[in-house]
Amino acid sequence: MKVLVVGTGAREHAICESLKDDVELYSYMANVNPGISRIAKYKQGNEGEIAKVAKFASENNIDIAVIGPEAPLGKGIVDELEKIGVPSVGPNIEAAKIETDKSFMRNLFLDYKIPGQLDFEVFDNYEDISNFLDSYEKDVVVKPVGLTGGKGVKIVGDQLKDNQEAKLYAKEVMDNAMGGFAQVIIEEKAIGEEFTIQAFCDGENLAPMPACQDHPHAFEGDQGPITGGMGSYSDNDGLLPFLSQKDYNDSVAIMKKTLKAIKDKASPYKGILYGQFMLSKDGPKLIEYNARFGDPESMNVLPLLKTPMVEICEAIIDGGIKKVEFENKASVCKYIVPDGYPETKHSNEVINIDENKINALGGKVFYAAVNLKDENVYTSSSRALAITAIGDTIEGAEKIAEDACKHVTGNVYHRKDVATKEIIEKRINHMNDILKS
Ligand code: GLY
Repeated sequence: MKVLVVGTGAREHAICESLKDDVELYSYMANVNPGISRIAKYKQGNEGEIAKVAKFASENNIDIAVIGPEAPLGKGIVDELEKIGVPSVGPNIEAAKIETDKSFMRNLFLDYKIPGQLDFEVFDNYEDISNFLDSYEKDVVVKPVGLTGGKGVKIVGDQLKDNQEAKLYAKEVMDNAMGGFAQVIIEEKAIGEEFTIQAFCDGENLAPMPACQDHPHAFEGDQGPITGGMGSYSDNDGLLPFLSQKDYNDSVAIMKKTLKAIKDKASPYKGILYGQFMLSKDGPKLIEYNARFGDPESMNVLPLLKTPMVEICEAIIDGGIKKVEFENKASVCKYIVPDGYPETKHSNEVINIDENKINALGGKVFYAAVNLKDENVYTSSSRALAITAIGDTIEGAEKIAEDACKHVTGNVYHRKDVATKEIIEKRINHMNDILKS
């Protein structure tokens, strides 16, 4: 079987690794990813140019496509590939609205009475924003309605001082049509611990994956700007040290209800549904959905798969998805990023990666936003390498990942505290305080 993986980063490298033993692998990617280029036939090109991706698929008689990033999904890549008879692991443009249109997502929760909803309002004029925020008593989160590559969300108490400052930012989002809509969505700020659950969806049913927790802040101690994610972990029982089986089941139930609602309101959702939740005093609240694997969370779950990925992809496309089996192991992923990240200070520089030593430790390198040129690996302005390790416990996996990071040199840094005992204790204590309050 010929499988085309669309996308250029560590997430797509992990997808390719999960498929490579069972299929003939093809890749369409913006940069030449050193990990993907050695296991797939590839074409370098902009993944957002969906007609060109479809042409490549047609020329190579691709059987199925797996879509990594959200941007091509928002442009209708799945519909484009369907026109030439190539089915995809990824939702069509209508079903992808669960990520690409946050107003659609919140209204779906409202209309179908899905639990885990947050207070929200969608605005298209400043007077209404101002009146709402003058009388709203809780802190808020301001979000563009459409896609902004994870850069548009601002939170009171984090990037925004208070609800008055939120007014100005909401106006900016609306006036500049950030994310492609001349609207802004304002939501209640949920308080608790964030976690991720991803699920394989066949349009009717889903098979959930182990829960993960990302570390979005750039610097140690959860300081600094919010990034695409500096590292993540999962535990050997599929739960998290602060997340009970009931919390997990309640979250999966929210995702199942969402899947049914999307089918009813838009179109059957076939692909990966990524649920970003906040575990609050009142149980899990849905922060947002993504219509794709998480990055870095895909690097936690894909190496744990016991069910062959190709079988899962076929079940997503044909229907009849059943339980997907994972190893009862913990995983830790640490992102190595250029110095200065998320600002662009050190890009287009060579970094040295001793992959043999990393592999000997039991670690694995997933290449992200780097470029292979003349046998050298060059950084870009974004995350460079995801170093991942599997272990019996989070502590064991963290040690391997941290030791492995020492074998990457150059103008780079990583968060040494990702998944450490100290930071996990901080998460548990934070959750206990919230439950007691
Ligand atoms: N971990 C954040 C994301 O995948 O969007």
